[in-house]
Amino acid sequence: MERIAIVTSGGDAPGMNACIRAVVRHGSAHDLQVFGVCRGYQGMIEGEIIPLGVRDVGNIIQRGGTILRSARCTAFREPEGREQAAARLRTAGIDGLVVCGGNGSMQAALQLSAHWDGGIVGVPASIDNDLSGTDTTIGFDTAVNTALEAIDRIRDTAESQQRAFLVEVMGRKSGAIAVSVALAGGAVGVLAPGLPQDLDALVSFLHSARAARRASNIIIVAEGDEAGGAFEVARALEAHMAMPIRVTVLGHIQRGGAPTAASRILGTRFGAAAVDTLRDGDGGVMVGIRGTEIVRVPLSEAVVEPPCVDAALARLIVGLAG
Ligand code: F6P
Repeated sequence: MERIAIVTSGGDAPGMNACIRAVVRHGSAHDLQVFGVCRGYQGMIEGEIIPLGVRDVGNIIQRGGTILRSARCTAFREPEGREQAAARLRTAGIDGLVVCGGNGSMQAALQLSAHWDGGIVGVPASIDNDLSGTDTTIGFDTAVNTALEAIDRIRDTAESQQRAFLVEVMGRKSGAIAVSVALAGGAVGVLAPGLPQDLDALVSFLHSARAARRASNIIIVAEGDEAGGAFEVARALEAHMAMPIRVTVLGHIQRGGAPTAASRILGTRFGAAAVDTLRDGDGGVMVGIRGTEIVRVPLSEAVVEPPCVDAALARLIVGLAG
């Protein structure tokens, strides 16, 4: 292995830059030439592949987003697009590729392996925490803390006005952000994919909370919840209650900002581990973390299904809503 490249793909996640930095510096320390593929799989198709040296990745560890840029690429969904990307990698003489992204990016990496015979190693990076085979992903901790800060602010006004709020958080099909921020933010309920839906129970809780003059009632809604987005849920609840419910959709705010220490450390560990995996000739895998240990899991296992949210944590949220 002599020439490796890193691509960041799909939704950017805070901590991706730490990963890029680690791949470049760890790779260079092992005499590898390192390249960056710009703008995700779209840039790969267009051959936007640039050399990256150790100085190019200085002063980026603290920055959100990705210096390589990212993209959602429809052309890569077609075999012709993937063939073109593979040809670009061959022309650039790349023999190892690190793909840093979420569930969709890992599925694309798996598809690329049918067109290109270099080594491919995935690095889980997504605020959604939506990959199997790893406890967590780069950016998840930052997104949870960003959402939490917003929820703490909402609580101030909710409490002053004695209002109920629905706060919608990102996560696509995963409820991981929702459950984490609900627990850490003292919410009274959470609606997320994979959890039992009980809008009737929520209505009667809000009624009794009102009778008991409970000051603030914050309910977290995962954007991918079966009951719909927060506005839809609010309409459904309001149909059974005489009180208005305020809605806040946190949106892309959750994806930006400086990565937390945990996201930077994870990005750094995953980046170095990805280089080691390529040097070992162990392609077709994604690096992950189990407990405190870095692991390698087959890409095919990583993409199976977004892991279920922890139902025991969800029960704790409801159980502690006094
Ligand atoms: O996958 C990360 C994510 O932020 C999801 O939580 C969200 O559903 C999606 O990306 C939004 O994508 P886009 O930025 O393309 O609108």
